[in-house]
Amino acid sequence: MSVLFAALFLTLTLFLSVFSERLPTKSWSNSIKAAYGHGSSKQAQGEGLSVERQVDHTMSHAECKREFPLLFDQLEENAAAWRYKGGIKYRNLEEASAKCIDGCARFIIKDGRIFIRNYTVGPQSRVRGVLTLFRTAVEAASAADKARFEGVDVILNALDSDETDAGDGVGWVLTKEGSDPPGRYLLPDFSFAAWPEAGIGSYGEFRRDAKAINEAMTWHQKADRAFFRGDPSVGSAARADLMEQVKLPGASVWSDVRATSFFDESAHIAPHVPIAEHCKHKYLLHSEGISYSGRSKFLLGCSSAVITHNLTWTQHFHPALISNPQSPDQNVLIPPEPYFHHLAEFMADLHAQDVGAYATSGMSLGQRVAANAERTLVQRYLSPAATMCYTRGALISYSSVLDRTSFPGGQTEVLPGGGVVPNSGMRPMEDLRQSIKGDIDLTTWELLDHPIWPP
Ligand SMILES: *[C@@H]1O[C@H](CO)[C@@H](O)[C@H](O)[C@H]1NC(C)=O
Ligand SMILES: *[C@@H]1O[C@H](CO)[C@@H](O)[C@H](O)[C@H]1NC(C)=O
Repeated sequence: MSVLFAALFLTLTLFLSVFSERLPTKSWSNSIKAAYGHGSSKQAQGEGLSVERQVDHTMSHAECKREFPLLFDQLEENAAAWRYKGGIKYRNLEEASAKCIDGCARFIIKDGRIFIRNYTVGPQSRVRGVLTLFRTAVEAASAADKARFEGVDVILNALDSDETDAGDGVGWVLTKEGSDPPGRYLLPDFSFAAWPEAGIGSYGEFRRDAKAINEAMTWHQKADRAFFRGDPSVGSAARADLMEQVKLPGASVWSDVRATSFFDESAHIAPHVPIAEHCKHKYLLHSEGISYSGRSKFLLGCSSAVITHNLTWTQHFHPALISNPQSPDQNVLIPPEPYFHHLAEFMADLHAQDVGAYATSGMSLGQRVAANAERTLVQRYLSPAATMCYTRGALISYSSVLDRTSFPGGQTEVLPGGGVVPNSGMRPMEDLRQSIKGDIDLTTWELLDHPIWPP
């Protein structure tokens, strides 16, 4: 499982406006790879959003496209792929639903409300976390936007890698890689709601705590060494390489990397560090886990400088990550490949800038990347407003390629019954199972403690 950790960061905005044009011209910068094709073509534009706008759930689709332009190309690509394939048919949905056995839900949106048709238990509270995000996005939508995704029928899977279908890409997933069938829609990650099983509360609480740390510390007060806490046993080559690099002689000078685990305890396993406490470090190392790593949004949300590798698994906000060292908006660092082989030299260069002339006369590269991450990610693409915009945008895009003429009766129907039995008194659900019918309103389902559905 992709694991967690934490991060937050600093008060970089103060320095930002004055020094952002001074780009360090160290020789290795040119060898840093521009891994994120999307991010380099469009700029991560402008100032951050105001504090109020960052938590505004109600932006219209048009406003969303203006404020978060980098999120929408991926949706247009998905829609184009489905148009090419002739649209999403009811048959595709039925097939994907039948194959979805772990960590899945199928829901219908009707009259602006979410109805659960199927729910299978998956890891942690992930499916419910994702449904919470959909609920907020739907409820906060304008009437005009609601009309644009009315009648969608969505199948989602909240595992680290998809098990919803055998290749046609109809089910929505948390992450995908290059080999995925074209057209597959990405979910907003469940931990944009909360991740209690990883010791992480709600996303809003993380943002509050990260901000408090950054208001209390300047860049120069943050710890210097590259910081990582995570489980190295998840099978990721990048993470294994990181653990090798930090065993080399002298590595403790520039790295503070320890293995943690949710499952094991031993002398080699370090205690967990609360996620927001990560923000007390200048440099946060990020590596993929089993597939993507759910912790990335927290590290990138620290207003620190995240050092990662060429990621193979994408999530919905990745088009906003800019690793191109030529870009004035660079908001993430990637050392020369492969993986973390050159991390020691990379850290030496970053540190030299932090203590050298840049410390007094301008911004170091690390400081500038952290400031850009605060402006473009914390205050824009990782904001709750952006997540809501993406979620509605994805529903609107998906709705546009759903072939409703292939549905029984030519439109999406909510199966009648409401999932409750009239006058059932206080009898337990097991006794009622035979009489329960239909799709159940998300609210009713939650009040019943989110049973497997149909029960
Ligand atoms: C990043 O990895 C992908 C997939 O492994 C590869 O196709 C791409 O060329 C890599 N990009 C860079 C800049 O190395
Ligand atoms: C999904 O729900 C429908 C309608 O209640 C049911 O017929 C079907 O068997 C369910 N599918 C799964 C995979 O649970």
